[in-house]
Amino acid sequence: MTDKIAKPFLKWAGGKTQLINDIEKALPNDISKDKFTYIEPFVGSGAVLFWMLNKFPNLQNAVINDINDDLINTYKTISSRPKELISILDILQNEFHGLEGQDEEKKEYYYSKRELYNTRKEEQSGQAALFIFLNRTCFNGLYRVNRKNEYNVPMGSYKRPTICDRENILAVSQALQKVEILCGDYKETLNFADNNTLFYFDPPYKPLSETSSFNSYAKDEFNDQEQIRLRDFCHKLDTLNHNWILSNSDVKGKDINDDFFDEIYSEFSISRVKARRSINANPEKRGELNELLITNYAYEQAL
Ligand SMILES: C[S@@+](CC[C@H](N)C(=O)[O-])C[C@H]1O[C@@H](n2cnc3c(N)ncnc32)[C@H](O)[C@@H]1O
Repeated sequence: MTDKIAKPFLKWAGGKTQLINDIEKALPNDISKDKFTYIEPFVGSGAVLFWMLNKFPNLQNAVINDINDDLINTYKTISSRPKELISILDILQNEFHGLEGQDEEKKEYYYSKRELYNTRKEEQSGQAALFIFLNRTCFNGLYRVNRKNEYNVPMGSYKRPTICDRENILAVSQALQKVEILCGDYKETLNFADNNTLFYFDPPYKPLSETSSFNSYAKDEFNDQEQIRLRDFCHKLDTLNHNWILSNSDVKGKDINDDFFDEIYSEFSISRVKARRSINANPEKRGELNELLITNYAYEQAL
C-alpha cells in the first residue's frame, strides 16, 4: 500500500496534463453525484485517467484502451506485477546511470536495449521495463515506430533520467486495481458502457502542418477518414444516451477557413481552450495553440 497519488508513468505526445483544468470545467455538472463508469478509449499516458481516479471517489470503475499493444502490456504489467517490474527497472537505471560521462558506451547501451525491445522476445515484465526505459531515455519521450512496428527513436540527452520511479509505480498499480485494461480499436469500448458512463476521447490529433508528426504513435495513420469514423462513433454514443467529451487540435488556429471539426461536430457543443504543446523538436513551434473540447451535453462552467 502507498499513500502517494498516482501520476502518468510515461512521457507521451499529446499528454493532457496541461488541459486538465479545462477538462474539469467541461465535465457534466452532476458528475460527483452518483456512481459512474469512466471510459478512456485512447488512453496514452493516462493523464486524465489518473486525475479522474483521484478526484472522483464515486467513480465506480474505469475502462482504458489503446491500440498500442506495447503500451497496454506496460499498463497490465504495472497492474499485476509491479514489484517484478521495479526490480528490472532498478537494474536498467543503475546500469545506465553508471555510464554517465561515457557518451559512446551510453549510446551503445541505449541502442542495444532498443534492439532487444524490437525483438519483442522478452517476457511480459522485461518487455514493459524496456518500454519504460526507452521512454525515459529517448529523444523527447517520443514513441514512434516504422512500418515493421520497430521502435526507431534516437537516444535523448537527459542527464541521469529517472527510469525507476518505485513509489509512483506502486501508486499506479494500486490505482489500476479498479481499471479494466483493453487493447484494440476504440469502438470495442462500447461493450463496457452502462447506464451512467462518461467517455473521454483524446484521439491522435489532426496535424496542424505537413511536418508535424504527432499522430505517428502506431503503425496505422489516423487520417481525416479516421476522424470522421470517430465522429460517427460519438454520434452513436449520443443516440444511446452516453455522455462524452472529446479533445482535438484547433485546425482553425492555423487556417481560419478550415472548418473541418466545426462541420463534422456541428450538432454538438464546441469550445476552444488554450493549450501548450511540449513535444515538438522545433522550439519555434512550441507556442500557444488552441485546442477543441467538444461535448454532447450542455454544461455550466463553475466560476
Ligand atoms: C493523443 S494520444 C492520447 C494522449 C493521452 N490523452 C495522454 O494524456 O497521454 C492518442 C492515442 O491513441 C492511440 N490510438 C490511435 N489509433 C487508435 C485506435 N484506432 N483505437 C484506439 N487507440 C488508438 C495511440 O496509440 C495514442 O496512444
